Amino acid sequence: MKRLAILLPLLVASLSPRAESLREFLAHEEFEAAVHLPGEARRGREIYTYCVACHGPEGWGTVDGSYPQIAGQLPSVIIKQLADIRAGNRDNPLMRAFTSRRILSGPQEIADVAAYISALRMTPYNARGPQELAPWGAEIYRRECAECHGEQGEGDSEEHVPALAGQHYPYLVRQFEEIRAGRRRNADRKMVRQIQRFSREEVLAVMAYCASLRPPPERLAPAGWTNPDFPSRRLP
Ligand code: HEC
Ligand code: HEC
Repeated sequence: MKRLAILLPLLVASLSPRAESLREFLAHEEFEAAVHLPGEARRGREIYTYCVACHGPEGWGTVDGSYPQIAGQLPSVIIKQLADIRAGNRDNPLMRAFTSRRILSGPQEIADVAAYISALRMTPYNARGPQELAPWGAEIYRRECAECHGEQGEGDSEEHVPALAGQHYPYLVRQFEEIRAGRRRNADRKMVRQIQRFSREEVLAVMAYCASLRPPPERLAPAGWTNPDFPSRRLP
Protein backbone atom coordinates (compact mmCIF):
# COMPACT_ATOMS: atom_id res chain seq x y z
CA MET A 1 0.00 0.00 0.00
CA LYS A 2 2.80 2.34 1.01
CA ARG A 3 4.72 1.47 -2.11
CA LEU A 4 1.68 2.20 -4.22
CA ALA A 5 1.38 5.62 -2.60
CA ILE A 6 4.92 6.37 -3.71
CA LEU A 7 4.64 4.81 -7.14
CA LEU A 8 1.33 6.29 -8.16
CA PRO A 9 2.40 9.96 -8.31
CA LEU A 10 5.54 8.86 -10.17
CA LEU A 11 3.43 7.00 -12.66
CA VAL A 12 1.11 9.95 -13.16
CA ALA A 13 4.08 12.32 -13.56
CA SER A 14 5.65 10.09 -16.16
CA LEU A 15 2.40 9.80 -18.10
CA SER A 16 1.30 13.41 -18.10
CA PRO A 17 3.79 14.79 -20.65
CA ARG A 18 2.60 12.04 -22.95
CA ALA A 19 -1.04 12.85 -22.24
CA GLU A 20 -0.17 16.43 -23.11
CA SER A 21 1.36 15.53 -26.46
CA LEU A 22 -1.53 13.16 -27.19
CA ARG A 23 -4.00 16.01 -26.65
CA GLU A 24 -1.94 18.24 -28.92
CA PHE A 25 -1.74 15.52 -31.53
CA LEU A 26 -5.49 14.83 -31.51
CA ALA A 27 -6.36 18.52 -31.68
CA HIS A 28 -3.92 19.04 -34.53
CA GLU A 29 -5.25 16.08 -36.54
CA GLU A 30 -8.81 17.30 -36.24
CA PHE A 31 -7.87 20.89 -37.04
CA GLU A 32 -6.02 19.80 -40.19
CA ALA A 33 -8.98 17.67 -41.30
CA ALA A 34 -11.62 20.36 -40.67
CA VAL A 35 -9.77 23.42 -41.94
CA HIS A 36 -9.53 22.02 -45.49
CA LEU A 37 -13.22 21.09 -45.74
CA PRO A 38 -15.70 23.51 -47.27
CA GLY A 39 -18.02 24.37 -44.37
CA GLU A 40 -21.75 24.45 -45.03
CA ALA A 41 -23.33 27.32 -43.14
CA ARG A 42 -26.85 25.93 -43.59
CA ARG A 43 -25.92 22.78 -41.67
CA GLY A 44 -23.88 24.84 -39.22
CA ARG A 45 -27.01 26.77 -38.33
CA GLU A 46 -28.64 23.57 -37.01
CA ILE A 47 -25.61 22.86 -34.83
CA TYR A 48 -25.52 26.44 -33.59
CA THR A 49 -28.81 25.77 -31.76
CA TYR A 50 -26.64 24.18 -29.05
CA CYS A 51 -24.44 27.23 -28.71
CA VAL A 52 -27.15 29.90 -28.39
CA ALA A 53 -27.65 29.48 -24.64
CA CYS A 54 -24.19 30.83 -23.90
CA HIS A 55 -22.98 32.76 -26.94
CA GLY A 56 -26.41 34.25 -27.69
CA PRO A 57 -28.58 34.07 -30.85
CA GLU A 58 -26.27 36.60 -32.55
CA GLY A 59 -23.00 35.04 -31.34
CA TRP A 60 -22.20 38.26 -29.48
CA GLY A 61 -21.39 36.76 -26.07
CA THR A 62 -21.79 39.06 -23.06
CA VAL A 63 -20.28 42.47 -22.32
CA ASP A 64 -18.95 41.25 -18.96
CA GLY A 65 -16.69 38.94 -21.00
CA SER A 66 -17.78 35.70 -19.35
CA TYR A 67 -18.84 34.54 -22.84
CA PRO A 68 -16.82 35.71 -25.83
CA GLN A 69 -18.23 37.17 -28.99
CA ILE A 70 -17.63 34.49 -31.62
CA ALA A 71 -19.60 36.09 -34.48
CA GLY A 72 -17.29 37.23 -37.28
CA GLN A 73 -14.25 35.33 -35.98
CA LEU A 74 -12.05 33.75 -38.68
CA PRO A 75 -13.22 30.21 -39.56
CA SER A 76 -9.74 28.74 -39.06
CA VAL A 77 -9.62 30.23 -35.55
CA ILE A 78 -13.05 28.85 -34.61
CA ILE A 79 -12.02 25.43 -35.94
CA LYS A 80 -8.74 25.51 -34.01
CA GLN A 81 -10.45 26.49 -30.75
CA LEU A 82 -13.16 23.82 -31.11
CA ALA A 83 -10.59 21.11 -31.87
CA ASP A 84 -8.45 22.24 -28.92
CA ILE A 85 -11.33 22.42 -26.45
CA ARG A 86 -12.64 19.03 -27.51
CA ALA A 87 -9.21 17.36 -27.18
CA GLY A 88 -8.65 19.02 -23.78
CA ASN A 89 -5.84 21.13 -25.23
CA ARG A 90 -7.64 24.26 -24.01
CA ASP A 91 -9.57 24.06 -20.74
CA ASN A 92 -13.19 25.08 -20.97
CA PRO A 93 -15.19 23.09 -18.39
CA LEU A 94 -18.39 24.98 -19.17
CA MET A 95 -18.36 24.26 -22.85
CA ARG A 96 -16.54 20.97 -23.25
CA ALA A 97 -19.72 18.85 -23.18
CA PHE A 98 -20.95 20.84 -26.17
CA THR A 99 -17.95 19.75 -28.20
CA SER A 100 -18.80 16.06 -27.70
CA ARG A 101 -19.28 13.79 -30.72
CA ARG A 102 -23.02 13.84 -30.09
CA ILE A 103 -23.10 17.50 -31.12
CA LEU A 104 -20.03 17.83 -33.35
CA SER A 105 -19.64 14.35 -34.76
CA GLY A 106 -16.51 15.05 -36.81
CA PRO A 107 -14.41 17.53 -38.78
CA GLN A 108 -17.26 18.27 -41.22
CA GLU A 109 -19.61 19.42 -38.43
CA ILE A 110 -16.82 21.57 -36.97
CA ALA A 111 -16.27 23.16 -40.41
CA ASP A 112 -20.04 23.69 -40.82
CA VAL A 113 -20.59 25.46 -37.50
CA ALA A 114 -17.46 27.57 -38.08
CA ALA A 115 -18.82 28.65 -41.47
CA TYR A 116 -22.10 29.71 -39.86
CA ILE A 117 -20.53 31.62 -36.95
CA SER A 118 -17.88 33.40 -38.97
CA ALA A 119 -20.53 34.78 -41.33
CA LEU A 120 -22.63 36.25 -38.48
CA ARG A 121 -22.30 40.02 -38.25
CA MET A 122 -20.64 41.41 -35.13
CA THR A 123 -22.08 43.58 -32.39
CA PRO A 124 -21.46 47.30 -32.74
CA TYR A 125 -21.76 47.52 -28.91
CA ASN A 126 -18.85 45.46 -27.58
CA ALA A 127 -17.41 46.38 -24.16
CA ARG A 128 -14.39 48.63 -24.81
CA GLY A 129 -12.82 49.22 -21.39
CA PRO A 130 -10.91 52.33 -20.26
CA GLN A 131 -10.63 54.27 -23.52
CA GLU A 132 -8.33 56.87 -21.96
CA LEU A 133 -5.65 54.16 -22.04
CA ALA A 134 -6.24 53.30 -25.72
CA PRO A 135 -3.70 55.76 -27.28
CA TRP A 136 -0.94 54.27 -25.11
CA GLY A 137 -2.26 50.79 -25.95
CA ALA A 138 -2.04 51.64 -29.66
CA GLU A 139 1.71 52.25 -29.39
CA ILE A 140 2.25 48.94 -27.63
CA TYR A 141 0.00 47.12 -30.07
CA ARG A 142 1.82 48.37 -33.17
CA ARG A 143 5.17 47.45 -31.67
CA GLU A 144 4.35 44.06 -30.14
CA CYS A 145 1.16 42.55 -31.53
CA ALA A 146 0.41 43.83 -35.05
CA GLU A 147 2.90 41.52 -36.78
CA CYS A 148 0.72 38.54 -35.80
CA HIS A 149 -2.76 39.94 -35.07
CA GLY A 150 -2.74 42.44 -37.99
CA GLU A 151 -2.66 46.27 -38.15
CA GLN A 152 -6.44 46.49 -37.63
CA GLY A 153 -6.72 43.51 -35.27
CA GLU A 154 -8.11 41.44 -38.14
CA GLY A 155 -6.13 38.30 -37.25
CA ASP A 156 -4.53 35.93 -39.75
CA SER A 157 -6.53 33.16 -41.31
CA GLU A 158 -3.54 31.24 -42.66
CA GLU A 159 -1.82 31.15 -39.25
CA HIS A 160 -5.11 30.86 -37.30
CA VAL A 161 -4.30 33.98 -35.27
CA PRO A 162 -7.54 35.31 -33.72
CA ALA A 163 -9.09 38.60 -34.81
CA LEU A 164 -9.18 40.87 -31.74
CA ALA A 165 -11.02 43.92 -33.15
CA GLY A 166 -14.46 44.37 -31.63
CA GLN A 167 -14.07 41.63 -28.97
CA HIS A 168 -15.29 42.37 -25.43
CA TYR A 169 -12.59 44.02 -23.35
CA PRO A 170 -12.95 41.86 -20.19
CA TYR A 171 -12.69 38.69 -22.27
CA LEU A 172 -9.51 39.92 -23.96
CA VAL A 173 -7.92 40.81 -20.61
CA ARG A 174 -8.81 37.41 -19.14
CA GLN A 175 -7.45 35.47 -22.11
CA PHE A 176 -4.28 37.54 -22.19
CA GLU A 177 -3.58 36.77 -18.52
CA GLU A 178 -4.42 33.07 -19.00
CA ILE A 179 -2.02 32.88 -21.92
CA ARG A 180 0.71 34.73 -20.05
CA ALA A 181 0.37 32.46 -16.99
CA GLY A 182 0.60 29.37 -19.23
CA ARG A 183 -2.92 28.25 -18.32
CA ARG A 184 -4.08 28.21 -21.93
CA ARG A 185 -2.18 25.23 -23.24
CA ASN A 186 -2.91 25.89 -26.90
CA ALA A 187 -1.32 29.36 -26.76
CA ASP A 188 1.25 30.51 -29.26
CA ARG A 189 4.67 29.89 -27.66
CA LYS A 190 6.27 32.94 -29.21
CA MET A 191 3.45 35.15 -27.94
CA VAL A 192 3.79 33.67 -24.43
CA ARG A 193 7.48 34.60 -24.32
CA GLN A 194 6.93 38.04 -25.76
CA ILE A 195 4.30 39.16 -23.23
CA GLN A 196 5.92 38.07 -19.96
CA ARG A 197 7.36 41.50 -19.05
CA PHE A 198 4.09 43.43 -19.50
CA SER A 199 2.85 45.42 -16.49
CA ARG A 200 -0.84 45.11 -15.59
CA GLU A 201 -1.41 48.69 -16.82
CA GLU A 202 0.16 47.86 -20.18
CA VAL A 203 -2.13 44.83 -20.50
CA LEU A 204 -5.23 46.94 -19.79
CA ALA A 205 -4.06 49.63 -22.23
CA VAL A 206 -3.36 47.29 -25.12
CA MET A 207 -6.63 45.40 -24.63
CA ALA A 208 -8.62 48.67 -24.45
CA TYR A 209 -7.07 49.57 -27.79
CA CYS A 210 -7.94 46.17 -29.35
CA ALA A 211 -11.53 46.38 -28.11
CA SER A 212 -11.79 49.85 -29.68
CA LEU A 213 -10.54 48.68 -33.10
CA ARG A 214 -13.49 48.56 -35.52
CA PRO A 215 -14.04 45.59 -37.82
CA PRO A 216 -14.83 46.62 -41.43
CA PRO A 217 -18.35 48.16 -41.59
CA GLU A 218 -19.77 45.29 -43.66
CA ARG A 219 -18.88 42.87 -40.86
CA LEU A 220 -20.79 44.85 -38.22
CA ALA A 221 -24.53 44.44 -37.63
CA PRO A 222 -26.68 47.53 -38.10
CA ALA A 223 -28.15 49.05 -34.92
CA GLY A 224 -31.07 46.99 -33.58
CA TRP A 225 -30.30 43.89 -35.68
CA THR A 226 -31.33 40.51 -34.27
CA ASN A 227 -30.64 37.09 -35.77
CA PRO A 228 -33.79 35.96 -37.66
CA ASP A 229 -32.56 32.33 -37.48
CA PHE A 230 -33.29 32.18 -33.72
CA PRO A 231 -36.27 34.46 -33.03
CA SER A 232 -37.87 32.20 -30.41
CA ARG A 233 -34.73 32.25 -28.27
CA ARG A 234 -35.17 35.91 -27.43
CA LEU A 235 -36.84 37.04 -24.23
CA PRO A 236 -39.91 39.19 -24.85
C1 HEC B 1 -22.39 26.33 -21.45
C2 HEC B 1 -21.96 27.51 -22.14
C3 HEC B 1 -21.38 27.36 -23.54
C4 HEC B 1 -21.94 26.69 -24.61
C5 HEC B 1 -23.25 25.95 -24.68
C6 HEC B 1 -21.03 26.90 -25.71
N1 HEC B 1 -19.96 27.67 -25.33
FE1 HEC B 1 -18.40 28.29 -26.51
N2 HEC B 1 -17.51 29.17 -24.90
C7 HEC B 1 -18.05 29.25 -23.63
C8 HEC B 1 -17.13 29.96 -22.76
C9 HEC B 1 -17.34 30.27 -21.28
C10 HEC B 1 -15.99 30.31 -23.56
C11 HEC B 1 -14.75 31.06 -23.09
C12 HEC B 1 -13.90 30.16 -22.24
C13 HEC B 1 -12.70 30.85 -21.68
O1 HEC B 1 -12.86 31.84 -20.99
O2 HEC B 1 -11.59 30.41 -21.97
C14 HEC B 1 -16.27 29.78 -24.90
C15 HEC B 1 -15.40 29.90 -25.97
C16 HEC B 1 -15.70 29.53 -27.27
C17 HEC B 1 -14.81 29.72 -28.42
C18 HEC B 1 -13.44 30.36 -28.38
C19 HEC B 1 -13.57 31.85 -28.64
C20 HEC B 1 -12.27 32.60 -28.61
O3 HEC B 1 -12.25 33.74 -29.12
O4 HEC B 1 -11.27 32.13 -28.09
C21 HEC B 1 -15.46 29.21 -29.51
C22 HEC B 1 -14.97 29.21 -30.95
C23 HEC B 1 -16.74 28.70 -29.05
N3 HEC B 1 -16.85 28.91 -27.69
C24 HEC B 1 -17.69 28.09 -29.87
C25 HEC B 1 -18.83 27.43 -29.41
C26 HEC B 1 -19.72 26.61 -30.25
C27 HEC B 1 -19.53 26.41 -31.74
C28 HEC B 1 -20.70 26.12 -29.42
C29 HEC B 1 -21.84 25.20 -29.78
C30 HEC B 1 -21.48 23.92 -30.43
C31 HEC B 1 -20.44 26.62 -28.08
N4 HEC B 1 -19.31 27.40 -28.12
C32 HEC B 1 -21.23 26.35 -26.98
C33 HEC B 1 -19.28 28.74 -23.24
C34 HEC B 1 -20.14 27.97 -24.01
C1 HEC C 1 3.98 35.48 -32.59
C2 HEC C 1 2.63 35.83 -32.91
C3 HEC C 1 1.83 36.56 -31.84
C4 HEC C 1 2.15 37.73 -31.19
C5 HEC C 1 3.41 38.57 -31.33
C6 HEC C 1 1.03 38.03 -30.33
N1 HEC C 1 0.06 37.05 -30.46
FE1 HEC C 1 -1.69 36.97 -29.45
N2 HEC C 1 -2.10 35.14 -30.26
C7 HEC C 1 -1.34 34.51 -31.23
C8 HEC C 1 -1.96 33.24 -31.59
C9 HEC C 1 -1.46 32.27 -32.66
C10 HEC C 1 -3.11 33.13 -30.78
C11 HEC C 1 -4.09 31.94 -30.74
C12 HEC C 1 -3.49 30.79 -30.02
C13 HEC C 1 -4.39 29.56 -30.13
O1 HEC C 1 -4.26 28.84 -31.11
O2 HEC C 1 -5.25 29.38 -29.28
C14 HEC C 1 -3.17 34.33 -29.96
C15 HEC C 1 -4.19 34.62 -29.03
C16 HEC C 1 -4.37 35.85 -28.40
C17 HEC C 1 -5.50 36.21 -27.58
C18 HEC C 1 -6.71 35.33 -27.29
C19 HEC C 1 -7.82 35.67 -28.26
C20 HEC C 1 -9.06 34.84 -28.19
O3 HEC C 1 -10.01 35.15 -28.93
O4 HEC C 1 -9.12 33.89 -27.44
C21 HEC C 1 -5.30 37.49 -27.15
C22 HEC C 1 -6.22 38.32 -26.27
C23 HEC C 1 -4.05 37.95 -27.71
N3 HEC C 1 -3.49 36.92 -28.46
C24 HEC C 1 -3.51 39.21 -27.54
C25 HEC C 1 -2.24 39.59 -27.96
C26 HEC C 1 -1.65 40.88 -27.68
C27 HEC C 1 -2.32 42.01 -26.95
C28 HEC C 1 -0.38 40.86 -28.22
C29 HEC C 1 0.70 41.92 -28.12
C30 HEC C 1 1.05 42.35 -26.82
C31 HEC C 1 -0.20 39.55 -28.85
N4 HEC C 1 -1.34 38.82 -28.68
C32 HEC C 1 0.94 39.16 -29.53
C33 HEC C 1 -0.18 35.00 -31.79
C34 HEC C 1 0.51 36.14 -31.37
